[in-house]
Amino acid sequence: MLTKIELENFKSFEGKHTIDINNLTTIIGLNSSGKTNILEGISILSNISSGIDITAFFNKYAEMAKGNIRGGASGCCRTRKKVFGLGCTIKKSNGNSLVYSLKIDVANEDRVYVDEENLYELTAEGGKHLLFKTIKKEKYKGDIVVEYDNKKRGKNPRIQCDRSYSILSQLDQKLILNNETLNEVQKLIDNNEDKDYIAVNFLKDLGTKNKNTIYQDIELIKENIKNVQSINPNPDKVRNYVSRDNSPIFTDASNLSAVLDRLISGYRMAERRYNRYGNHVNHEKNSVDLSHKERYEEYKKKYDMLLSIVRLLPEYEIKELSTIITPSPLRDVMFTCVEVHNGNDVKMPASLLSDGTIKVIAIATAIVTSPDNSVLLLDEFDSGTHQTKSFELLKKLFEVAKERNIILVVTTHNTSLLNQYTVKYLKGTSIVFRAKETGNSEIVNFYDLNGVEKLLARGGLGDAALKDGLDEYLYTQENKEVALPEWLQNIGEGHNG
Ligand SMILES: Nc1ncnc2c1ncn2[C@@H]1O[C@H](COP(=O)(O)OP(=O)(O)OP(=O)(O)O)[C@@H](O)[C@H]1O
Ligand SMILES: [Mg+2]
Repeated sequence: MLTKIELENFKSFEGKHTIDINNLTTIIGLNSSGKTNILEGISILSNISSGIDITAFFNKYAEMAKGNIRGGASGCCRTRKKVFGLGCTIKKSNGNSLVYSLKIDVANEDRVYVDEENLYELTAEGGKHLLFKTIKKEKYKGDIVVEYDNKKRGKNPRIQCDRSYSILSQLDQKLILNNETLNEVQKLIDNNEDKDYIAVNFLKDLGTKNKNTIYQDIELIKENIKNVQSINPNPDKVRNYVSRDNSPIFTDASNLSAVLDRLISGYRMAERRYNRYGNHVNHEKNSVDLSHKERYEEYKKKYDMLLSIVRLLPEYEIKELSTIITPSPLRDVMFTCVEVHNGNDVKMPASLLSDGTIKVIAIATAIVTSPDNSVLLLDEFDSGTHQTKSFELLKKLFEVAKERNIILVVTTHNTSLLNQYTVKYLKGTSIVFRAKETGNSEIVNFYDLNGVEKLLARGGLGDAALKDGLDEYLYTQENKEVALPEWLQNIGEGHNG
C-alpha cells in the first residue's frame, strides 16, 4: 500500500517534503500554494519508475498522453537547482516499509537522467536495510553503478545500469540472477579452479543459490505506483467524434467517447453472450459454463457504478449512456446520454452536454475503467460541480474507489465541501501553503494539527471543527515555530450560523 510521497527541490518545494497518502487524500490550499505541483510529482514518479526513457518522457510522451508536465524537465526543478527528487513509501503486509527515492538531473534538457536512486527497507523495529543504491556517478557517463543486497554475507554485489531509465525498471529478477551467476563463475575462475570443477560446482549450486528476494520488493514498488492516472477533463475536447481505439482515458478526457464505447459495447456483447450461452452445460466439464456469467456481471457492475455516479448531479433522470457511431469506413464514435424529460427518453449527444456533466462522466469513467491498485489524481475534482452536490459526489467516488482498490488524490477550493468532512475524510486531508519568510511550499496533514482530537470529541466536525481546530492550533504554544497562513483561520467562516 502506498502511504507517502516525497518531493525534493521539486517546483515550489525547496528541500524535502512528504505528503501522506490515504485511500482518499484531499489537498487544500490557496492558489499557487503547490497542490497541482504535488499531483505532477506523483505522475512523474509513476512514469519514470515504470521504465520510460526519461528524456523522451519529458519531451514527448507526456505530451502524447495529452497531459503535460508544465515547464518540461527543467521546470520540475526548484529554481537555481539542477537536480530534483521524488520518492514514495510502500507499506508491506509484514509491517515493514519500503522507501524508494529517485533523483533526476535536468541540467541538460536533451539528456535528462538518473542522478541517484535507492531503495531501503525500514523494519517495524526501526532498522534500515539497503536493498539497492546507485554509487559512483560520473557526470557524463551513460551508465551508473548500482550496489544491491544479495542477502548473503560479505560485500554487496555491483551491477551496471543505464541511467536514462530508472534503476527500478532495470533491476528485475532476470538481471539480478544473471549478475549473480556471472559473479559466481568469476569467483571460481579467480580461485583458479579447474574447468571441470567449475562446471560441476556451478551446476550443483545453481538450484539452491538464489535466495535473493529483493526483486520481489522491487516488484511491489512498481506494482503500487505504475498505474497513476491524472484526470483533468476539458469538456470542449470531449464534444467531438473520436476514433475508436484501446487507449486508457487521457488526462484531458478527449478520448472519453472511445473509452465509453469500449465499456458499453463490451457490456452489450457480454450480455448477449450470457443470454445466449449462459446456461449451456459444458459437457466436458459436466457443469454450467460460468465464464459468460462472470464476464457479464463484471461489466454490469462497472456500468452500474458509472451510472450511479453520473446520476448524482442533474435534476432529471439519466437513464443510460450509449454511443453513436458514424457510418463506415470512418466509424468514429461519440457518447450520448439518455435523459428522461417529462417521461420521455431524450438522447443527448456529448456535443450538447453541459461542462459539469461531461466532467463527472469523465471522472466516473476513469474510476470504473482504471486497473485495480491505481492511483487517480483529480485536480479540482469538483470544479464545475454545484457546491451542494460536491460532497455527495466525493462520497460516491470514494465508495467506488474503495470497492475497486483505487487511491483517490483530489484537490479542491470548495470550503463548504470541507465543512462536511467527517473524521475519515479529515484524516486524509493535507494543507499546502507557502511559508511566510521563504515563500517555499509546506505540507501539513490536517490530522496532525494540535487540538484536533479535542475538537472532534466536542462533536462538531463541520465548520466549527475546522475553524476552532485551526485557530486553536495557531495559538498553541508548541506549534509556534510553524506559522500557518492566515486564510486557514477562516475556513468554515460564514457557516457558523
Ligand atoms: N520550478 C519551479 N521553481 C519554483 N517555483 C515553482 C516552480 N514551478 C512552479 N513553481 C511555483 O508553483 C506555482 C504553481 O503551483 P501549483 O500549480 O501547484 O498551484 P496550485 O496550488 O495548484 O494553485 P491553483 O489552486 O491556482 O491551481 C507557480 O506559480 C510557481 O510559483
Ligand atoms: Mg492547481
